[in-house]
Amino acid sequence: MAYKNLLYEKDNNLGLITINRPDVLNALNIEVYRELYDLFQEIENDAGVRVVILTGSGQKAFVGGADIAYMKDKTSVEIEEFVIAARKTGDRIFTLSKPVIAAVNGYALGGGWELAMDCDIILASDNARFGHPEITLGIVPGGGGMQRLLRVAGIYKTKELIYTGDIIDANTAMAMGMINRIIPRENLMAEARLLAEKLLSRSSVALYYAKKTINGGYGMSLASALDSDENFFARCFATGDQKEGMQAFLEKRKPEFRNK
Ligand code: COA
Repeated sequence: MAYKNLLYEKDNNLGLITINRPDVLNALNIEVYRELYDLFQEIENDAGVRVVILTGSGQKAFVGGADIAYMKDKTSVEIEEFVIAARKTGDRIFTLSKPVIAAVNGYALGGGWELAMDCDIILASDNARFGHPEITLGIVPGGGGMQRLLRVAGIYKTKELIYTGDIIDANTAMAMGMINRIIPRENLMAEARLLAEKLLSRSSVALYYAKKTINGGYGMSLASALDSDENFFARCFATGDQKEGMQAFLEKRKPEFRNK
């Protein structure tokens, strides 16, 4: 499928998505959310892609937020359609059966930070900036940012960031546990690809089980989440990859996973 606002490359089981509206810092309107949803759905159904990297085009931004010009004159009913599209896209990424790496190459604001938080691993360039400036526009975040931030950063940091709208640098985001790594800007994509290659060398079935039970654990009691871990552990023993992984260990060689 052709996408107006996205660039998409496939390279040896890696899917690289670039949000491509650099003139407006890759701001998100409903069309961008819908294209992202469609592309992630295409990837879900494409056995030839096992790991995804999501980034933004240009030197300045991953995504500068929802498109303010697009939103400004919307009615409450019209904006509902937009926020539903945002939610649907975020859920599509969060529940994708394959790992998604966010390569945050500059500003990740509002809906941009939300998109990064929907991914599995967040790599940030040293010039990355994160924030929820919605309050400065007289609104609150609508695409899950408040709830995801709350679950990682806790209630006090979340309230401070949401109430002030302050933008933080990569070091601050790192100290809050909101990103995995800070990488010099010129090396960001190379590091993201190295990480993707490492994930491609793992069993994609085991990765999927890990993602499913870790994500599921978010909203569960500890006892239910531990039950889920136990079930997925047992399910691994129905796969060829478990047999191959253990056989390879015993034969002191690298496993050759067949992802089934
Ligand atoms: N929606 C629409 N347009 C946006 C945008 C957004 N979220 N973020 C940036 N842009 C546009 C700017 O209007 C500008 O367009 P112009 O060249 O036609 O004037 C262009 O992108 C470049 O942005 P600019 O503001 O000139 O860059 P900067 O380096 O001076 O500032 C930011 C960068 C990110 C601090 C600033 O663009 C900003 O505050 N953006 C809005 C962030 C926001 O509130 N996001 C949450 C939305 S809910």
